[in-house]
Amino acid sequence: MTHPVLTALGLGATESGTFLGNGEWSKTSDAGVLEPINPTTGDVLGKVMASSQADYDTIIERAQAAFKVWRTTPAPRRGEAIRLCADALRTHKDALGSLVALEMGKSKPEGDGEVQEMIDIGEFAVGLSRQLYGLTMHSERPGHRMYEQWHPIGIVGVISAFNFPVAVWSWNAFIAAICGDITIWKPSPKTPLSAIASMKICNEALKAGGFPDIFFLFNDAGSELAQNFVDDKRVGLISFTGSTKVGRTVGERVARRMGRSLLELGGNNAIIVDPTADLKLAIPAIVFGAVGTAGQRCTTTRRLFVHESIYADVLGKLVTAYKQVEGKIGDPIDPKNLMGPLNSRDAVNAYLDAVEKAKAAGGKVETGGAAIEGKGNFVLPTIVTGLTNDAEIVQHETFAPILYVMKYSTLDEAIELQNAVPQGLSSSIFTTNLKAAEAFLGAAGSDCGIANVNIGTSGAEIGGAFGGEKETGGGRESGSDAWRAYMRRQTNTINYSDSLPLAQGIKFDL
Ligand code: UN1
Repeated sequence: MTHPVLTALGLGATESGTFLGNGEWSKTSDAGVLEPINPTTGDVLGKVMASSQADYDTIIERAQAAFKVWRTTPAPRRGEAIRLCADALRTHKDALGSLVALEMGKSKPEGDGEVQEMIDIGEFAVGLSRQLYGLTMHSERPGHRMYEQWHPIGIVGVISAFNFPVAVWSWNAFIAAICGDITIWKPSPKTPLSAIASMKICNEALKAGGFPDIFFLFNDAGSELAQNFVDDKRVGLISFTGSTKVGRTVGERVARRMGRSLLELGGNNAIIVDPTADLKLAIPAIVFGAVGTAGQRCTTTRRLFVHESIYADVLGKLVTAYKQVEGKIGDPIDPKNLMGPLNSRDAVNAYLDAVEKAKAAGGKVETGGAAIEGKGNFVLPTIVTGLTNDAEIVQHETFAPILYVMKYSTLDEAIELQNAVPQGLSSSIFTTNLKAAEAFLGAAGSDCGIANVNIGTSGAEIGGAFGGEKETGGGRESGSDAWRAYMRRQTNTINYSDSLPLAQGIKFDL
């Protein structure tokens, strides 16, 4: 039986995973089937027909044709298209939020929050469509004007991960759209239904508004189509969210063909709690950061550095809070639950493996450390102490709710430890000491793309540029001037004089 959450969004038991444009979903049925699993029960949620090579070729062809029209459509008009998408998402927020919760496993409020991020970035993009500013420079030559302008780059490829199955696409696709680009989306094979539902909502809104197709979708049963996508010269930018391991290959392959890539890879995010911290803020922030989305955000808090003078107090309060969360683990659709299942069996095994490795390295499990018996991929949120930051398992991003708690004595030491991992996404300090806060944010402070004071590591707002340094990949998407990644810059010099002076005073008299 089709799950009522799917029915509410007009999805049936079998769906095409390929949106070909022209209002057309592919009828391909011989390119493999994706069977997303409901992580709460282990049951198959529905069938998604994977895309064929021929589908992919059609998409690229139609996307190229669509770009020819879209690139000269005025940017504010492109903004109007995204306004309609954001409006439609507002209408379907509850249903799509439920589907994200159902298919991915995050709690219903977090599923709704993810759809809210789509709406927010849509509205941000509408405003931005009138603000794609370039600079004007003073020419060194008389009677000359110099300025820069930003043009669309063409086709943007989005490869997204299961943990944010819809929002990450919209951060890319909505900004790319107002920039004049066409987006082709390859979602995670674990969450194709959320992707299909989002595409339906947006494409129907675009069609009703008289707009052309600017978004396309394909689903890959294996990885062959995705690999060709990465290597495809016709795709100007590949925006990839996922593991550092796969992202490294994506980055290398796109670089080989001189394409552009935007990489959003792993994080190993830490919070520092200094002796002046307000624990009324710090404790819930740590718990949400480490346990929210069952530890499956790239911004999840994985390491905690607590000043030795308050270590025992903080650890005790955290263990108490974790026990409260334990009573609210269950079906993510039920709004009383704070934590749902991990997305897959593999993730449960990776969690158990990490707990074993932590113990073998001398770590002590203060709370949690086990999977929950019965149906679904449920695990207990876990705190491990007794390891040092250089322990192999602490250096590694396990996509699960495991928090390594460590002690420190001086702020310099804490900052050095927080930076001493290969990844560089998000970081926070809890302090009421101005000097400590500024030191943390300064050039010798956190080396991450995101550094916060008195809020946690996860749950970034869309208005800022999102992304991180080092093995996190260096990409920035979402707000601020991240739009520039989706456009090409052109420098223009115009001579309105009657002579031809050369730059740098060069004489070339004929
Ligand atoms: C991700 O986990 O891939 O800051 C993105 C956050 C969210 C985005 C996470 N806004 O936690």
